[in-house]
Amino acid sequence: MPKIVIAIDGYSSCGKSTTAKAVAARMGYGYIDTGAMYRAVSLFFTQERIALSNHKEVVAALDRIHITFNHNPRTGKNETCLNGLNVEGEIRTMYISNIVSEVSAIPEVRWAMVAQQQKMGRKRGVVMDGRDIGTKVFPDAEVKVFMTADTYIRAKRRQQELLEKGDMVNLDDIIKNIEKRDLIDTTRSESPLMQAPDAALLDTSHMTIEEQVDWVIEQADRRL
Ligand code: C5P
Repeated sequence: MPKIVIAIDGYSSCGKSTTAKAVAARMGYGYIDTGAMYRAVSLFFTQERIALSNHKEVVAALDRIHITFNHNPRTGKNETCLNGLNVEGEIRTMYISNIVSEVSAIPEVRWAMVAQQQKMGRKRGVVMDGRDIGTKVFPDAEVKVFMTADTYIRAKRRQQELLEKGDMVNLDDIIKNIEKRDLIDTTRSESPLMQAPDAALLDTSHMTIEEQVDWVIEQADRRL
């Protein structure tokens, strides 16, 4: 059977990653969390104290950033590694969430990440989630989904996720973060977040993860 690319784009905290991961597992495909890559870049700049305003230093640093995904057989989970070190915990903090959209709006950062993502998916047979997969990374993806959901519902889900990791975060702070990220992501000059003309819209406000997964698999089945 031919292998296809499934591109899942959309607003922050709509359930893209959870859905994409489950779709990949059911189809026996690879899963690439492109948001994790921009988060890892943000972490690197923070660790190295590189100011985003220092464009020359930002661009020079990109050569020193190597991101990989490592499957941990003990937990059964994929871990994001920055220069060989597992940074899965560090990249999910509110601190990183608050700077990542500014980092990902820098054109040179995007060019570097897009090139790596295209390389990772070149053999196809992948589910990739992000903001520009169907428009920029894989404009020829066989399945394109654009996810949206009510902001309050997204924030509640995000709060629950953080709580499960032991992080108590105020709902208003999460709403502000989601709105800020959506605004930066949709208005940046380099590949802003938008629905590709050929992407199917999925509003997950009142859907369970299982329903979302079934919906995406149905889209994929039509292309196989
Ligand atoms: O998916 P996640 O919410 O972890 O992504 C974090 C941030 O990374 C997004 O808010 C967005 O600014 C950026 N991003 C992006 N392009 C992608 C994936 C994520 O600009 N393909």
